[in-house]
Amino acid sequence: MRSHYCGDVNETLDGQTVTVSGWMHRRRDHGGVIFIDLRDREGLVQVVCNPEDAESFAVAERVRSEYVLQIEGVVNLRPDGSDNPDLKSGKIEIIATRLEILNSSETPPFPLTEQAEVSEDVRLRHRYIDLRRPEMLQKLRFRSQIIRQLRNFLDDNGFLDIETPILTKATPEGARDYLVPSRTHAGDFFALPQSPQLFKQLLMVAGMDRYYQVVRCFRDEDLRADRQPEFTQLDIETSFVEEEDLMTLMETMIRDLFANVLEEALPNPFPRMSYAEAMARYGSDKPDLRINLELVEVSDLMKEVDFKVFSAPANDEKGRVAALRVPNGASLSRKNIDEYTKYVSIYGARGLAYIKVNDIDAGREGLQSPILKFLPDEVIAAIMKRTEAQTGDLVFFGADKANIVNEALGALRVKLGHDLGLVAHGWKPLWVVAFPMFEWDDKANRWNALHHPFTAPRESDIELLDTDPGKCLSRAYDMVLNGTELGGGSMRIHKADLQTKAFEILGISEEEANDKFGFLLEALQYGCPPHGGLAFGLDRLAMLMTGSSSIRDVMAFPKTQSASCPLTNAPSNVSEAQLKELNIRLRKKPTVEE
Ligand code: AMO
Ligand code: AMP
Repeated sequence: MRSHYCGDVNETLDGQTVTVSGWMHRRRDHGGVIFIDLRDREGLVQVVCNPEDAESFAVAERVRSEYVLQIEGVVNLRPDGSDNPDLKSGKIEIIATRLEILNSSETPPFPLTEQAEVSEDVRLRHRYIDLRRPEMLQKLRFRSQIIRQLRNFLDDNGFLDIETPILTKATPEGARDYLVPSRTHAGDFFALPQSPQLFKQLLMVAGMDRYYQVVRCFRDEDLRADRQPEFTQLDIETSFVEEEDLMTLMETMIRDLFANVLEEALPNPFPRMSYAEAMARYGSDKPDLRINLELVEVSDLMKEVDFKVFSAPANDEKGRVAALRVPNGASLSRKNIDEYTKYVSIYGARGLAYIKVNDIDAGREGLQSPILKFLPDEVIAAIMKRTEAQTGDLVFFGADKANIVNEALGALRVKLGHDLGLVAHGWKPLWVVAFPMFEWDDKANRWNALHHPFTAPRESDIELLDTDPGKCLSRAYDMVLNGTELGGGSMRIHKADLQTKAFEILGISEEEANDKFGFLLEALQYGCPPHGGLAFGLDRLAMLMTGSSSIRDVMAFPKTQSASCPLTNAPSNVSEAQLKELNIRLRKKPTVEE
């Protein structure tokens, strides 16, 4: 139905007859001549309908926005001065000789021709129209290119693409499971995989050696701009490797990707930072290194001060007092500071003390702050020195449990970076390493795995599992890019007794371990090789590489923030008959009756 894509018709075809098919993008009536911009995946082409060709002119008069047309015509160089440099086909036009309406269209719910302010809900409800917009098309095309590049790299490096089940058993990655009732096993449920973690480990036991999969994962968790309930991982596992081998291979893959697709050179090697250092300096295990602001430890200076808000956490083993210097921040207004104080309260901070530095050389007199009165001269001097404060700066303080201070000042750091234009241009990847194995959950009063329960401890820390699990470091690594966790993985536990011990520490009883992970524990007893891997969030990678602000912009049919689909109305009611077949009785009656 076409000889060329619209966007591919150009001056090399001058004088030739072509057939193009696509959507009516724009129509202009110019003193008896009708111009139609016809659009397809590859771009726009201008079609000219002259009244002398009465038949096609009559059709041209009837076409409306988004009608589907097939047009035959002769390629003609545009008259001098009427080139359109914004179009690939901007040097030519097609003089129509035949015009056929293949399908009509209702008036679209939003215009595709201009940058209209359209709510995301409306865009998602008519996603098939939204995706016609060139920037959306461009993003999906780009995503396809990323996946092709990554697949090529892995194929070239001896990885096998192997599929794993979607109807499966719960794999813990820290979120709630999506469950699917089984009809044939009344009362039992499949879980959709949060990741293929256990299957890829089993593939290593099976001797597949190098596995990858572009795979859908499902997590029922609170959604954010970079989180979706179903998302795609590039999942990878290899045998007989150490973390060095794997990290080198993986960063090579990402460097190649950026070089080939974006013509951007990423550092070689990626810098590495321990979890402890990332938390101390950035309050986050995914630091955005484009922002040149750092948390500064001042706990030791605050132990003796006559200000409980600071001295209490300074003397608490789990507490922290940290400072964040904002260059030129003294110009922030009272209102700005109040807004930032409100912002950090989202993260549990109970206040946001600050010192404005009006004149660094004037000592106490040169400073302005509600907390100055609580601080002796030598403490003030030490703070100024340590934060390297200059005249015109402002220093914020967070004081609380370390995790609250880290979250609050870590988030404030990023917000200030964006608000004050302190985000450097470019790409700042890094590996975060040396994660603790476990973190203490105060509410549940037990240890949680910082990654997942299959992550191996460092060889030298194994003894700590018995004596001080909180100090035990793991063999996990995260790849972070511009403040986003792109991917994470680890060397795995490959011995059954160590895996059993890890479950014990996590408060998973022997019975529960056997019930949930018996198949893994058993497999580990049949010659499991040392192995490890990682998984990248492909949507996040595409989001970053396309400069999108939301993960939804790089997914063809994403869910909303409330995990629903406005296009299909999923999730939705099911009939009584279906429920009955599945042996399910709802607490709340469904509204669809059968
Ligand atoms: P993890 O849970 O860190 O590790 O997931 C790997 C990567 O997947 C992406 N990701 C998400 N992307 C979009 N929406 C979500 N809800 C979401 N959750 C995670 C992130 C993340 O870095 N099995 C392990 C990997 C391994 O150990 O090999 C795992 O799933 O970019
Ligand atoms: P207050 O004595 O409660 O009026 O607090 C004095 C200053 O300390 C105010 O600027 C508060 O915002 C700040 N502040 C209070 N609690 C904290 C905290 N936990 N961390 C940092 N600053 C705080």
